[in-house]
Amino acid sequence: MTFPESFIFGAATASYQIEGAATEGGRGPSIWDTFTHTPGTVVGGDTGDVACDHFHRWERDVDMMADLGLQAYRFSIAWPRVQPTGTGEFNDEGIAFYRNLVARLKEKGITPLATLYHWDLPQALEDQGGWLSRATVDAFVAYAVRMVEELGADVELWATFNEPWVSAFVGYGSGAHAPGHADDVEGLTAAHHLLLSHARAYRAIKAVRPEAQVGIVNNSHTPRPWDPSNPKDLEAAAHIDALANGMFHQPLVEGSYPEILKPNTARLTDWSFVHDGDLDEMRDTVDWFGLNYYASHVVRHHSHKAAASSDVATLADGHKAGANSPWPGDEQIEFMTPPGELTAMGWNVDPGALHAQLMKVHRETGRPIYVTENGGAWDDVLDGDGRVRDVARVSYLHDHLHAVATAIAEGADVRGYMAWSLMDNFEWAQGYAKRFGLVRVDYGTQERRWKDSAYWYRATVARRSPLP
Ligand code: NOJ
Repeated sequence: MTFPESFIFGAATASYQIEGAATEGGRGPSIWDTFTHTPGTVVGGDTGDVACDHFHRWERDVDMMADLGLQAYRFSIAWPRVQPTGTGEFNDEGIAFYRNLVARLKEKGITPLATLYHWDLPQALEDQGGWLSRATVDAFVAYAVRMVEELGADVELWATFNEPWVSAFVGYGSGAHAPGHADDVEGLTAAHHLLLSHARAYRAIKAVRPEAQVGIVNNSHTPRPWDPSNPKDLEAAAHIDALANGMFHQPLVEGSYPEILKPNTARLTDWSFVHDGDLDEMRDTVDWFGLNYYASHVVRHHSHKAAASSDVATLADGHKAGANSPWPGDEQIEFMTPPGELTAMGWNVDPGALHAQLMKVHRETGRPIYVTENGGAWDDVLDGDGRVRDVARVSYLHDHLHAVATAIAEGADVRGYMAWSLMDNFEWAQGYAKRFGLVRVDYGTQERRWKDSAYWYRATVARRSPLP
């Protein structure tokens, strides 16, 4: 089982999770600075103020990527670092940081994949309405075009948004992420504006640089019905699938939202945030889909009633079904913990669902796919001899790479795989307690230490096969 010649293996990170230097180099504040400095929002009161100090250590970090044999590196640009208030003046020092980063990656033969938005909205834009305002759509398009003008000669692969589902439904719907609003209709409105921003940025980028390959990165929920013979469970799974997947694929391919969304949310909203012409603008605006995959989901209608609170699963990013749910219109739906081992996030391990999701996105969109994130958090132990024997991570990566290879063999056009993450980092509302890295970070000394999984990944990339 080997991967095609052109397939790229890499690792991923995001600006707020690794850069630190939150007030240096002319960077403006983002919604995540505000959120993390608000008591009670993040486990342990952690913030991204210092994180992995990558802003000061980027050269050594790129050298480490080269030592790891990575062929690609997915990073994100912190909007407030390059344009402190999200409109108007750009910050040369911030732009230079990414220009230097990209130049060094090129020097080392590592393909850059740049994400324009991995959740750190300039606070000044949030103060004017954030993703609830159409002015933010215009601001994003201007920022995106400028970044492509600045870096486009060296960066071919661009992602507009990372997991717009999370930005919308966790940021504005459940409130567990910045900016911390908890309102179902705001969640839906933000989702629409994010997708519209993607579409307008896609067209604007293509106008200045037709050769840019512009995609969007979605998190993949894989809702399976608890009891496939129960029509209510089937409906529950269909509702979650429409909100999680269809809503973020279909408009950008076909120019329409999944039909069941409107009736299922009619109690909440008439969708008047969708203006005439928006959906036409959205049609056919994606060169590739990025898929972030971690775990699978089993859902059921709450009429089963048997559910003890202990078997209601923790959702992505620490949510419980029920109050403050990130799923508009879901009062009747429960997320169940699938059987089997769980990671430190409480997520299950199900490589088969990655395979299924790749085939589904392939079938439904016909677009090339990159696995833009995949990995897991475990309670890593630093042994006395300095090794981190993270066998669970090795086995997870091994099995998921198999799933990718199988999907390719069955015809899905999967072009690359980015492990999440290059190194341990700031895991949003979970702070630093959850470690996803191939490389361990000692936050006291900033020492980077390769875990066993890093050595394994290097050998795998060199061999271009997850075996043995
Ligand atoms: C997806 C997000 O894009 C990333 O920022 C996060 O750290 C991982 N999921 C793990 O939760």
